[in-house]
Amino acid sequence: MSGAEFIFEQVRSAGCLSYLLGCAKEKICVVIDPELDKADDYVSLARFFQSKLLYAVDTHTHADHSSACKVMRERHGVKVVMHADTEAPYVDWRVNEGDCIEFGQCALKVIHTPGHTHDAMCLLFNDRIFTGDTLLIGGCGRTDLPGGNAEAQYESLLKLKSLGKDLRIYPGHDYREAVSTLGDEQQKNPRMQIASKEEFIHLMTSRKPPLPRKIQEALEWNRTPIQGTQRGFGEGI
Ligand SMILES: [Fe+2]
Repeated sequence: MSGAEFIFEQVRSAGCLSYLLGCAKEKICVVIDPELDKADDYVSLARFFQSKLLYAVDTHTHADHSSACKVMRERHGVKVVMHADTEAPYVDWRVNEGDCIEFGQCALKVIHTPGHTHDAMCLLFNDRIFTGDTLLIGGCGRTDLPGGNAEAQYESLLKLKSLGKDLRIYPGHDYREAVSTLGDEQQKNPRMQIASKEEFIHLMTSRKPPLPRKIQEALEWNRTPIQGTQRGFGEGI
């Protein structure tokens, strides 16, 4: 995708992962899946690299935490990027399959991977892919929350398999601080090893894990413009 030198920082907040990625030459950064509590931290981090933060990209509409995108847009003039199928009203650029999100001499390539949510996408960059919750290390995002579809998730995992084995994966969640590649996941991840679509759909639809603790607040925050919602987490439903 790009041979340019790049800035890369993983930001961990409990089990949620965000990523700052930047063009080292032109000092322009993007942040992927920023979390509300750390909205100003990403800007500080970009400044640490003497860089400007151009885009905040959400890989999907999160149901378990509040995105920092609209706050970063409001406070820092960062442009928000999400897939065209999103319902979020504060998005500046709605991207589609194959679009390139350019920052300096670097670019993220959009791969639409519905299933966890209908607006889910993965972002391909050099030797790595940011998989959001489409593919986790040792698992994949659930498909029983709003916008989820087990059949679409199966097809999306097949799509990722077709990208080869060497890409390093950087997911939206990781509770074990592991590092992995698409090849590792094809070997070890049970969700990547199910050969039949029907079996996959059965697995994904027969289990009912508890809902994320803050699902109502998260979905309300992530689906409304900033004027309509002034509260953040910790202030109750
Ligand atoms: Fe998610």
